[in-house]
Amino acid sequence: MQSLRNAHLAGKRVVIRVDYNVPLNESLQITDDSRIRASLATISYVLENGASVVLLSHLGRPQGTPDLKYSLRPVALHLSRLLQRPIRFIENCVSYEAQEICRNLQPGEVVLCENIRFYKEETAGDLKFAEQLSKLGDIFVNDAFSVSHRAHASTTTIAQFFEEKFAGFLLEAEIQNANRILKNYQLPFVALIGGAKVSDKIKVVENLLERVTHLFIGGAMAYTFLKAQGYHIGKSRVEEASLSIAQAILEKASQQNVQLILPQDSVIALSLEPAAHTQVVASTVIPEEWIGVDIGPAAISQIQNVLEGAKTILWNGPMGVFEIPEFAKGTLALANLIAAQTQKGAFSLVGGGDSVAALTQSGLTDKISYVSMGGGALLEYLEGTILPGIASLET
Ligand code: 3PG
Repeated sequence: MQSLRNAHLAGKRVVIRVDYNVPLNESLQITDDSRIRASLATISYVLENGASVVLLSHLGRPQGTPDLKYSLRPVALHLSRLLQRPIRFIENCVSYEAQEICRNLQPGEVVLCENIRFYKEETAGDLKFAEQLSKLGDIFVNDAFSVSHRAHASTTTIAQFFEEKFAGFLLEAEIQNANRILKNYQLPFVALIGGAKVSDKIKVVENLLERVTHLFIGGAMAYTFLKAQGYHIGKSRVEEASLSIAQAILEKASQQNVQLILPQDSVIALSLEPAAHTQVVASTVIPEEWIGVDIGPAAISQIQNVLEGAKTILWNGPMGVFEIPEFAKGTLALANLIAAQTQKGAFSLVGGGDSVAALTQSGLTDKISYVSMGGGALLEYLEGTILPGIASLET
């Protein structure tokens, strides 16, 4: 994979696949622009080196047809402010008009095409569609690690139509940092995995068991592991279909000498209402009718102990029903503990929407070694999968 630093950019038109899949509120205002800011380094570099830029992105899952609520227009406006230059917006990226606009681009000019998923050919990875897109520029740059697990037209198929294709700076940084977890990790290595579904994380957990010294499992996932051992978990969320997998993971951890830790105590509630009555109990004896909604204070101490001395830390997934502030305490405490251990010299990588939101909420983002923009893509990378959007840059 070639780095953008090796590209001769002057006078060229550079098609950059970015990931502007950002959250919008009901008034279509961007509520978190991290992904847009994360693309600026690559765009600015290309512009400063005398080229023009054609940006391609998706937003949401519009099912292959135009849908105003997924328009990238608000992003164009915001990007224009951040780059302090006008952004030309192309409605139909596979039209003759689009090709004309791009053919006449002058160095320093930027265009953003409307949501690429307004065409069903995008998610189908369609060859002809990708070829049309490739006519918008001379050079291709993939800077969208977070969608590189999709073999879509603008992430993967498009690359074969370019002689010159490069990894953008964000893509490069994501890979380098993820490799500090997968390849160049230092021990003790502590992984903290949360979230609801064991099935989403099985492959990551299996791959991590080959590397980590400690694995803490929190969030609803923990109850599947507790139930697999025969404990009483009340009405806590359980993935029945994953009970045997949980059992197998527990066995594999012990064979590999990995300390697999489950939360000693839980905050439990009678419902998922914010005002619900709560209490703290041992996670192994949750009464009937009660639901585990967060890790408790003893579990937070377990995490504190396990992080002590850690040199590599990976965190993915919340420790409880994080969307409800009353049940977010464990997740926020975890964020603080990781930040503290990072200050002591550990390398920490955090990925996944809720974990990143918890960091943002607690103002700790800058205290983490690397915060990944990738959700599903990071998980697939950490599973050991070769992502199609990355592989296509190598051929
Ligand atoms: C993401 O937000 O994880 C990426 O933009 C990929 O989006 P997708 O899951 O809709 O492909």
